[in-house]
Amino acid sequence: MYGSYGVSDDAERTAFRRAEKKYKVYYDDSKSSKKKKQLKQVDLSEVVDFKAILRSFNQSGEVPPGTFALQCDFDRPVFCIENRPGFYFIPDALTVEEQGRWIRESLISFPQPYNRTNHNAIYGPIRDLFMAAKERKILVEEEDSSGGLDSLSNSSITNMDAERWKFYEENTVSSRGSTCKSISASVLLRKLRWSTLGLQFDWSKRNYNVSLPHNKIPDALCDLAKEMAAPAMSKGKVFQPEAAIVNYFGLGDMLGGHLDDMEADWTKPIVSMSLGCKAIFLLGGKSRDDPPLAMFVRSGDVVLMAGEARECFHGVPRIFTDQENAEIAPLELMFSHEDDVCFLEYIRSSRININIRQVF
Ligand code: OGA
Ligand code: MN
Repeated sequence: MYGSYGVSDDAERTAFRRAEKKYKVYYDDSKSSKKKKQLKQVDLSEVVDFKAILRSFNQSGEVPPGTFALQCDFDRPVFCIENRPGFYFIPDALTVEEQGRWIRESLISFPQPYNRTNHNAIYGPIRDLFMAAKERKILVEEEDSSGGLDSLSNSSITNMDAERWKFYEENTVSSRGSTCKSISASVLLRKLRWSTLGLQFDWSKRNYNVSLPHNKIPDALCDLAKEMAAPAMSKGKVFQPEAAIVNYFGLGDMLGGHLDDMEADWTKPIVSMSLGCKAIFLLGGKSRDDPPLAMFVRSGDVVLMAGEARECFHGVPRIFTDQENAEIAPLELMFSHEDDVCFLEYIRSSRININIRQVF
């Protein structure tokens, strides 16, 4: 998935790549470099807007051609796309309270060991990154770390697993001189791109490594995923969440076109929740040459991909972090208490996606 997308594609070789290029963040470099960098304007006229579709459906029961409301006993409208069987869009599925809760958990508890993050490969497991960023701490490499590792005979301990780096207060680091490698927690938080919950996905081998230790997916998240998955499940069947991948996006970050194909049963949905800034989601076809459909995903929206939709390329070429387009006013209100300013600051320029999978 993540390791393989895009890289071998020439910039405009496929319809999917062309759409990614159309929507991704570019800066206008015609302006003087002294001025604040300006984002290039992007034409959003072809982006499907399920918030507007929900409004129209609630007012008049009408939806645009090519879309339809699913007949089901779910407690809110679920929309489908005519030529994309297995794809479901549930606008505004999560309450603002639920969004707030899962944003907090995504920042505080989900990146905790044993859960892995993109930082493991370089720094080993990092504890309490979000708190460390709040307290302006610095992550410093322990001087004797490699010697310690070499002397261990247990070959299952690798650099990935050893705690070789530790957080220090800003002022104590400067007094240690410049001999140690160091990086600030706030930079690491900005560079946090994913964490994995439940069964750990091994990006290098592109499969689930069931022998890796892991924390359970919290029961409340399992219950929520089971509830949200219902429109895509056959009657009487209950979705079994076994793994989740949490993606963190800042301005300019994108998730290239990919398939999630390492799960055994593709009739089961992937339950994908959007939190924070609005983004563009591209739903392609079974080939990268099929032109993808672009749609907005907003905080609280849930997308399900099951059956044939599991074979469709998809990705996120862009997130919106400007006041007008991010559409996070309800979250700003919910994080308005002074104790929550750290969440507010993060989410104003970020999007989080939690996608939950049944692996077997
Ligand atoms: C994924 C994925 C979509 C999103 O992580 O596999 O497709 O909306 N995420 O971020
Ligand atoms: Mn995916």
